[in-house]
This record gives sequence, C-alpha cells and structure tokens, in this order.
Amino acid sequence: MARKPRHTNVNLAVNLGGLPMKNPVTVGSGTFGAGMEYADFVDVAALGAVTTKGVSLNGWEGNATPRIAETASGLLNSIGLQNPGVAHLKEVELPWLAAQGATAMVNVSGHSFDEYVAVIEALEDAPVAAYEVNISCPNVDAGGMTMGCHVPSVEKVVRLCRAATKRPLIVKLTPNVTDITEIARAAEAAGADGVSLINTLLGMAIDARTRRPQLARVVGGYSGPAVKPVALRMVWQVANAVSVPVLGMGGVSCGTDAVEFMLAGATAVAVGTANFANPTATVDVIDGIIDYCEQYGVTDVNELIGALEC
Ligand SMILES: Cc1cc2nc3c(=O)[nH]c(=O)nc-3n(C[C@H](O)[C@H](O)[C@H](O)COP(=O)(O)O)c2cc1C
Repeated sequence: MARKPRHTNVNLAVNLGGLPMKNPVTVGSGTFGAGMEYADFVDVAALGAVTTKGVSLNGWEGNATPRIAETASGLLNSIGLQNPGVAHLKEVELPWLAAQGATAMVNVSGHSFDEYVAVIEALEDAPVAAYEVNISCPNVDAGGMTMGCHVPSVEKVVRLCRAATKRPLIVKLTPNVTDITEIARAAEAAGADGVSLINTLLGMAIDARTRRPQLARVVGGYSGPAVKPVALRMVWQVANAVSVPVLGMGGVSCGTDAVEFMLAGATAVAVGTANFANPTATVDVIDGIIDYCEQYGVTDVNELIGALEC
C-alpha cells in the first residue's frame, strides 16, 4: 500500500519562492518519472511537490547506451534528457498528478533559449504549480549545462523564462563551475524565485578489462551519497550569497541528510538517486525529519533553515 508520512504536530509546511509545500521534500527531476511508477509505494500527494523529469518541446531520444554505471556510493548517468515531449506531459502525466492531488513542479529543458520559453508557454494552461528551469544537465550538447555555466547565458534564459510566466520559477544550477555563487546571483538578478542545486557532477568510469569507458558518451553525471558533501558545501555557499530560497539536493537518502541541507540554508530538499535503491525513500526522509524535530524540540521545520552554527 502507498505510504504516507506519519502524523506529527510539527509544522512541516514551507514556502519555496511562492510555491507552498506541505512539507520540505520533493524529488530530484529524472529519478521519479512523474510519480506513476512510484504510486504503489508512496502517496505522491503527500510529498511537498513532485518534480517531473525534464521535458522539452518535441521530445528527445536520449543518448546511446550504456548510459548508467554504478560506482562506489554513487551513480553515473548519461541519459541525455530522454522524454516524450511537452504535449505528452500535458495529456498524460499532469492530469494524473492533478487527479492524485499532487503538487507538480515541471523541470523544463531546451536546446535553445526559444525552446525553454516555448515549453513554459505550452504549460501555462496546465496544472503546474512551479517550474524548475534545468540549465545544468551535463549530458546534452546544446542547452543544459552549456547554458548554465556562463553569467550572460544564465541571465538571458532566466529573463526570457521570467517574462513567460508569473508562476514560481526555480533555476537549477550545475556544480560544474568555478564559482556557483556567481551563477546563483545571476539567476536571482534575472528574476528567479529560487534556485535548486546541485545537478550532477561530471564524472567518468572505465572498464580496465576492456580498456573502454563504461558509458557510451564517455562522461556522465555523478549523483548519490558520494556527492553529498559537495552539495552541502554549495548549498551553504549559495544560501549565503542570495536572498531567494534554495532547494537542496545531492545524495539525500534519510531524514538526517535533509536536516543537514536545511541547516546549511535549504528551504526544501529533493530526494534523487535514493529513489532507485529505496522506492519509499521520499516518505522515509519526511518521517526522518519529523523524528529529528520531535527529538530536538523543533515545533516548526522553518526553524532549521540556515540554523547552522559556525
Ligand atoms: C538518472 C538521472 C536522471 C536525471 N535527470 C534529470 C533531469 O531530467 N533534469 C534535471 O534537472 N536533473 C536531472 N537529474 C539530476 C537530479 O535531479 C539531481 O539533481 C542529482 O541527481 C543530484 O541528486 P541525487 O544525488 O539525490 O540524485 C537526473 C539524475 C539522475 C541520476
């Protein structure tokens, strides 16, 4: 039976840049589909939001296989934003999420500035609570991370998306830059209501026996428990650099991980790769936050945000 978080008197509600969330837990885009495959395990309506897999205007086939490699404490992927396109999302997944009573945050992809805008425009009459603009995917040759590494292109894409919608706009940042605070500040200045981080770290895996890379694309995005210290550091730096809220992610798999991200300055967290190993990870994380709050006398989860004592 689909699990819900346990009952608590702790206030779990947070506001992520204009997106009201009943608790501070969503999913990492691309690790949860639009929730349908997880509906036997967790009540998707009980999550703070369901962040959908990156969507483009006409759908993309993704990269050649193999495009997943397991490493110690982490996962490498080079999926390449495979998706069936925005019309399918509107016709199938978004109505399903709405029928479940779930809060939908749509992760928006594009190969060009115009494509990001076109995806948002196509979704403006759909049941979408917020957009997460993905300018951080390392697995595509145009758009994605190529746009998210330089201040002028970050400013341009965020400004264009901002003009296309009044809905909350969360901009997803890549860790594959020298100074992530510079990119976060550019996103904020261009009109972002919040920033999310981190997307995957560029990595590679080699098979010594065949002397070949394990991924067809050679390099891919690294995620899972191994990246948590990098993600925490970046969330802390960004939270101290901007005034918009931060959605933190990177290796979150239990309640304590989530609390650590909130102490570092995150308003909410996303559970990503952990969903693959444990399909109830999202609810386990919410229950773990409740456990922490009850144990330490925290009556409102908002007290945790940025409460790190240095
Ligand atoms: C298989 C896979 C697919 C992903 N697809 C997307 C995507 O479509 N859009 C996006 O913004 N991030 C995508 N990500 C990145 C995750 O949302 C998240 O930022 C990253 O994996 C770090 O969190 P984690 O360590 O909890 O997985 C993907 C990650 C994985 C592992």
